[in-house]
Amino acid sequence: MKINAPVGIFDSGVGGLTVVKRVLEKLPNESALYLGDQIHVPYGERTADEIRAFALGITDFLIRGGAKMVIMACNMSSAVALETAVERFPRIPIIGVIEAGARAALHTAHGGTIGVLATTGTVNSGAYTNILTSLTPDVRVIQQACPRFVTIVESDMCDTAEADDAVREYVEPLLSAGCRTIVLGCTHYPFLMRAIRAAVGPDVTIIDPAEETAIEAANILFDAGMLNSPHAEPAHACFTTGSPSQFADLGGRLIGRPMGEVQKTTWGIELQEIAWQEKTAGQTTRFAL
Ligand code: DGL
Repeated sequence: MKINAPVGIFDSGVGGLTVVKRVLEKLPNESALYLGDQIHVPYGERTADEIRAFALGITDFLIRGGAKMVIMACNMSSAVALETAVERFPRIPIIGVIEAGARAALHTAHGGTIGVLATTGTVNSGAYTNILTSLTPDVRVIQQACPRFVTIVESDMCDTAEADDAVREYVEPLLSAGCRTIVLGCTHYPFLMRAIRAAVGPDVTIIDPAEETAIEAANILFDAGMLNSPHAEPAHACFTTGSPSQFADLGGRLIGRPMGEVQKTTWGIELQEIAWQEKTAGQTTRFAL
């Protein structure tokens, strides 16, 4: 494995760009190989079996694309597929975002109740509660499913009254339960930070697991002697299973700088299946083609 190989990162859509941003802030000489599986977004409303199959297929795609490490920048994938992926692809490090988020939350909560905003699938997996209680057995965790958030972000509606309404609805139960630490348990949610901060007020600590994930990635690459040279010019590549132009426009607006070229991929699933899913996208998913 070459040290100038890229770090593979994936998500169901643009959400994982919040992780890419943190990773490249921490490791500016690394190259990122990103895949947003927009044909299947939202992951959080699908079954665990489906997401496991997608996450393993995409991990394989990134490794075959030369990744020296894979980051599941997706809580739903981290919840249901990380263990299997680590077993199936033992030659490179593979990490998720949940353990990092849980550690960061425990660090700031000082024994207080921890709130978790996440997709329906991540909430149902119980992954945050399991990891938090395995690290600190008496911690109190309140989870809140936020089924409207991912569609709001993927539809470029973060700065709308609809986003503000959804945020107020979902944070209210956590505030009523006394949470002063709230974890953003989906990588799309940092794009709603303005609305979330307005709704929770200044006294609540909001945890974005991406920050701790970037530190973990840096430590793993450092320990393995796999950090790219400090003189290296990074070369990023970005793929979507949806529309490259839509991904580039939306992603660029969300991260505040041009995305460069985005390419289309099927990451190995059958072309006929993609064609069928594109035709039925209106009924099965919400993304703009
Ligand atoms: N951003 C992903 C996560 O962190 C997936 C969200 C979705 O597609 O529902 O779970």
